Amino acid sequence: QLIDKGNHRHFMQKEIYEQPVVVAQTLRSYLRPLESKVALPDMDFDLSAIERVAIVACGTASYVGMIGKYWIEQLARVPVEVDVASEYRYRDPVLLPNTLGIVISQSGETADTLAALRHMRAAGVTTAGIINVPTSSMAREVDLLMPTHAGPEIGVASTKAFTCQLAVMAAFAANLARAKGRLGDEADVVQQLQQVPEAMSEALGHDGDIEAMAPKIAAARDVLYLGRGPEFPLALEGALKLKEISYIHAEGYASGEMKHGPIALIDEAVPLIVIAPSGPLFDKTVSNMQEAQARGAQVVLISDAEGIAQAGENTIATIEMPKVAPLIAPLVYAVPVQLLAYHVAVAKGTDVDQPRNLAKSVTVE
Ligand code: AGP
Repeated sequence: QLIDKGNHRHFMQKEIYEQPVVVAQTLRSYLRPLESKVALPDMDFDLSAIERVAIVACGTASYVGMIGKYWIEQLARVPVEVDVASEYRYRDPVLLPNTLGIVISQSGETADTLAALRHMRAAGVTTAGIINVPTSSMAREVDLLMPTHAGPEIGVASTKAFTCQLAVMAAFAANLARAKGRLGDEADVVQQLQQVPEAMSEALGHDGDIEAMAPKIAAARDVLYLGRGPEFPLALEGALKLKEISYIHAEGYASGEMKHGPIALIDEAVPLIVIAPSGPLFDKTVSNMQEAQARGAQVVLISDAEGIAQAGENTIATIEMPKVAPLIAPLVYAVPVQLLAYHVAVAKGTDVDQPRNLAKSVTVE
């Protein structure tokens, strides 16, 4: 398979743009639209017997795990714990019977995640993996392989693997919920997930606006990202993406944590990227945002038309997303978060696809 950048300047840009197609491709193997069903590959264990889930991954993949925790607990009411793989074995985790261990990895070779998988298997835990490389070590060792179909990801900064992992995680959460007799309207879930590719394309339509505002962020020394609910791990992902490729110091916080410390950092020189789809959590996030604005924060608000109409004043920029169901918001809002990091890095002239000190796959602990 010939891998080139096509019309794109960088692999990362190409991979961001591929997302509507590869997410659709991934969803195709998990959705049965004619039967209004969300399906998983065949498994030789009983999903309804699972009483808890332990998710282990590194970096961007670990944020998929954190978003998965919100989804699985909300939809299936099954308790979930999430660990970064490098900590997992060393905290000597308590593995109770009827736990499903899930590893998430693009490469399927990340040393810590692989070691955590082996640790779980040695403890007799049933395992599943959300993995992009089907021939990888992890793909071969899990009991249930839930593949992503992102295709080869070349940019060191993960983009399309992240959203494909989220798509599979949503499908898994829905299946577990059905197995637990809690899913409710499955046709509705199918419909929401089917809307993702188009909503992502719409999000990509704002590339020009994001490129235009990137120089404002490129001049900053520190950037904060805020989100609440499933958008909190997305704030962590936004900060990681920016750090990796632009070398700007960035942190992600749960909006409500602002006043427990990070607000002390706020002044006119610190841009605040607020990821806040309108909905039940919106007002609270906005009030955290306004507290920061009162202290001079330069806010970029990523929301839908309703959210921007309500809270877009006094920001340095707004990025308008389509109005989407809460379940799919992290997939759609990932797009502007990735584009922002990308354009800031390009504005700074860094090596976007091969950032300093980083390897695509971390195969040593
Ligand atoms: C993402 O932008 C990073 N380069 C990194 O955090 C990555 O997600 C992590 O190393 C995990 O890799 P894996 O998915 O191949 O296991």
